[in-house]
Amino acid sequence: MAAETFLVTGSLGCIGAWVLRNLVAEGVRVVATDVAVDPVRPRLLMDDEEIARIRFETLDVTDLERVKELVARHGVTHIVHLAGLQVPFCKANPALGARVNVVGTVNIFEAARAHWGQVRGLAYASSLAVMGPDHLYPQKPVRDDAPLHPQSLYGVYKQANEETARIYWQDWGIPSAGLRPCIVYGVARDQGMTSDIAKAMLAVAAGKPYHIRFGGPVTLQYADDVARLFIACARSGHQGAAACNVRNDVTEVERFVALLNDGYAGSRITCAETHLPFPADLDDSRLRSIVGDVPHTPLALAVEESVGLFRRLLNEGRIDLRQLDA
Ligand SMILES: NC(=O)c1ccc[n+]([C@@H]2O[C@H](COP(=O)([O-])OP(=O)(O)OC[C@H]3O[C@@H](n4cnc5c(N)ncnc54)[C@H](O)[C@@H]3O)[C@@H](O)[C@H]2O)c1
Repeated sequence: MAAETFLVTGSLGCIGAWVLRNLVAEGVRVVATDVAVDPVRPRLLMDDEEIARIRFETLDVTDLERVKELVARHGVTHIVHLAGLQVPFCKANPALGARVNVVGTVNIFEAARAHWGQVRGLAYASSLAVMGPDHLYPQKPVRDDAPLHPQSLYGVYKQANEETARIYWQDWGIPSAGLRPCIVYGVARDQGMTSDIAKAMLAVAAGKPYHIRFGGPVTLQYADDVARLFIACARSGHQGAAACNVRNDVTEVERFVALLNDGYAGSRITCAETHLPFPADLDDSRLRSIVGDVPHTPLALAVEESVGLFRRLLNEGRIDLRQLDA
């Protein structure tokens, strides 16, 4: 079987940067694509020599011909599709949000279909935002096939992507795995509605106060673990169109705040009372049936790693604290 070549879309984002880092560490050939051109986030996680091993290509996922051309030219065998606009950006510009998140995902499936055989695996980012508020899900843990009730355009677009995946399997036998992360945290998570968890860790490292704009039950996932999951799903050989909950740490924001304030001298983190409009207690059995063991760095260890890395980056003057005001 031919050696692997991964194509990653949205690879200059948070999860993308961690996917690149893991693939480079494994020595896998990787084509890193994004509409942006400056690899600011990957540089937070890799040194120059590691960055030099990555093949960077500009790609706007709304451009179908360019997606197909890159898949063909690089002999791509696996696709990790992460490109997307997050909740606030979809709300601010719904038409652009639909073009990037919905049409962009159709284009990825089209390119995979055009080159299936050469392409052997496809994993894409859905989101827990396809679900509605916790009270709609009396049965816990919430199963993968629970009814979807998205409360934002972003969630509606992600739901459309899961349905697109279902029809590509039904009509053309193109298999895929869609992951539904909830709150991804770690170095490089600097934008989006739920980035406050990562920003609180940056504030701790910088010795600054920070207020998280939500509270209550949450599911937290370390970006490194999520990146490994996307890679494992793309490689899984799974047959079908699986949309999968992701679980890992189910906690409350208030407990997370206590972990920071009790564990780090000078930490001054607070949180609001407003709950997020999603359930937290999720059943991830579909994901386990696809990848086996789910990578899971315990929360306290992931916080320690993140605060340590943020401190090093701050000492080197490589991180912009203005993100704490966004
Ligand atoms: N971070 C989370 O907590 C979380 C939770 C659930 C789902 N997700 C999903 O996971 C994926 C990655 O999330 P992230 O946190 O890395 O997001 P991010 O915002 O950090 O990165 C998204 C990347 O997509 C790129 N992009 C935007 N428009 C594009 C286009 N037209 N063509 C190509 N690239 C484009 C951006 O330049 C950016 O680098 C997204 O689809 C997101 O919706 C993330």
